[in-house]
Amino acid sequence: MRIIEKLPEMQAAARDYQRRQVDLGLVPTMGALHDGHLSLVKRCRTENTITVMSLFVNPAQFMPGEDYDSYPRTWSQDLELAEAAGVDIVFHPSAEDMYLPRRQTTIQVHELTKYLCGISRGQGHFIGVTTVVAKLFNLVSPRRAYFGQKDAQQAVVIQRMVIDLNFPVEIVVCPIIREADGLAMSSRNRNLSPALRPRALALREGLVLGRDMLRQGETDANTLFNHMCEQILRDDAIEVDYLHIVSPETLQDVEKVDDLVLMAGAIRIDGVRLIDNILVGPDGPWED
Ligand code: PAJ
Repeated sequence: MRIIEKLPEMQAAARDYQRRQVDLGLVPTMGALHDGHLSLVKRCRTENTITVMSLFVNPAQFMPGEDYDSYPRTWSQDLELAEAAGVDIVFHPSAEDMYLPRRQTTIQVHELTKYLCGISRGQGHFIGVTTVVAKLFNLVSPRRAYFGQKDAQQAVVIQRMVIDLNFPVEIVVCPIIREADGLAMSSRNRNLSPALRPRALALREGLVLGRDMLRQGETDANTLFNHMCEQILRDDAIEVDYLHIVSPETLQDVEKVDDLVLMAGAIRIDGVRLIDNILVGPDGPWED
């Protein structure tokens, strides 16, 4: 496995693969790898000759007061996991090289970032995400890039950016990987204390309740929302950051569920912010 830290070296390697018409797939991550990240690598390897994983805790997507400093960093373990998963190149740039002092350019997807995490974290979060992902696309020149449905809004926003700006990259969105009890895997789960860890399931339980009520025929979004909220707030250790039933395309609230919807939420527990979602319609799918 090759480790590349310098931007010109990454671009030269990418150019070389492009010249030889070798398909390159990119899995962008912020490290603290878990099976969710590794599922993206697995999918990437089946569809591309070379798999590049970027490991970069992107300061631009953390808003003031967020957990940039306490975001888990497990560099040596990440390298072992990446190598064992069959990653060919780990791209690990420094923040200084990625963000020059005189920079003045960002990328913003205007409408889709107004909702969900765009409200609770602010649209600046997504400006940080789209700007770094665009930079990664320019540095790595992937044919395909892999993202998780865990960050459903991020995937939709990046897809929009790719279409709007004509990036020659196919975006592949992969299913949410969960712990045995159903908790969505997340790098931030490491920051949960063992005592509160079981209670982090509250959001998942609320989403599952919504899915099951829909399955039983309840299609009024307000009724679903109220029951889901009540379920999540049963545990007084939980603060609900947001909970919405939205169109998976526009991310705007729906009133009645007559097509596929995204039930998406964010909670705070033990000082840790966790997100999860379920994509579901009045006729299923029910397996998630
Ligand atoms: P990070 O949180 O490290 O996630 C990297 C990728 O892994 C994202 O596409 C995310 O959706 C996916 N992922 C995380 N948990 C997952 C799970 N349980 N199941 C499936 N996929 C999962 O998302 C980011 O980093 C950053 O915003 C990034 C895109 C790298 C830009 O900085």
